[in-house]
Amino acid sequence: MQGDNSYNRLCRIVKINIFASMAEELIIASKELGKEEQYKVMLPQVEALVKGETDFIANISNIVAIIKSTFNHLWVGVYFVKAEELVLGPFQGPVACTRIFYGKGVCGKAWMEGRVIIVPNVDEFPGHIACSSLSKSEIVLPVIVDDRVRMVLDIDSDALNSFDEIDAVYLSKVISIIQTLYKESFA
Ligand code: SME
Repeated sequence: MQGDNSYNRLCRIVKINIFASMAEELIIASKELGKEEQYKVMLPQVEALVKGETDFIANISNIVAIIKSTFNHLWVGVYFVKAEELVLGPFQGPVACTRIFYGKGVCGKAWMEGRVIIVPNVDEFPGHIACSSLSKSEIVLPVIVDDRVRMVLDIDSDALNSFDEIDAVYLSKVISIIQTLYKESFA
């Protein structure tokens, strides 16, 4: 798909729209095309959306929004590492737990272990923190800069088994973008 002309054309259209600040013209691939195609359409828009904007929170807010708009997951957001806790950052979805201790829940474990955690069924994850009873499956990805977890990206779905290796691979590309933004803002 990457070398495909229609894909390149789409990327150009996306850039034109984003640079014209027409965020409402976000292009979302049809669900029928599959999640890989949805990610392929989403990623260049994420890159274009943050390009030239230096405010970290503004960029994270829009990244969260673009993921939520693309997949319509129950909850998409970030937690920042602050001292011994994760503290809630920009998110879209139902109100959420404000603070999570190191090692607690899926988020705290992803922080402690510095790795992506996919939870097919939250009821089977020991210590899962249920911010919403509607949440059925979850994926959490740490953002590591200079060997330290600085924040996590957390996505909740109201369906079981929503996340797999495809999500891990493509969301890791989003994490790379966030790492760069973090370095530019704080390093
Ligand atoms: N379920 C998460 C808590 C955060 S909410 O899902 C937004 C966890 O177990 O860490």
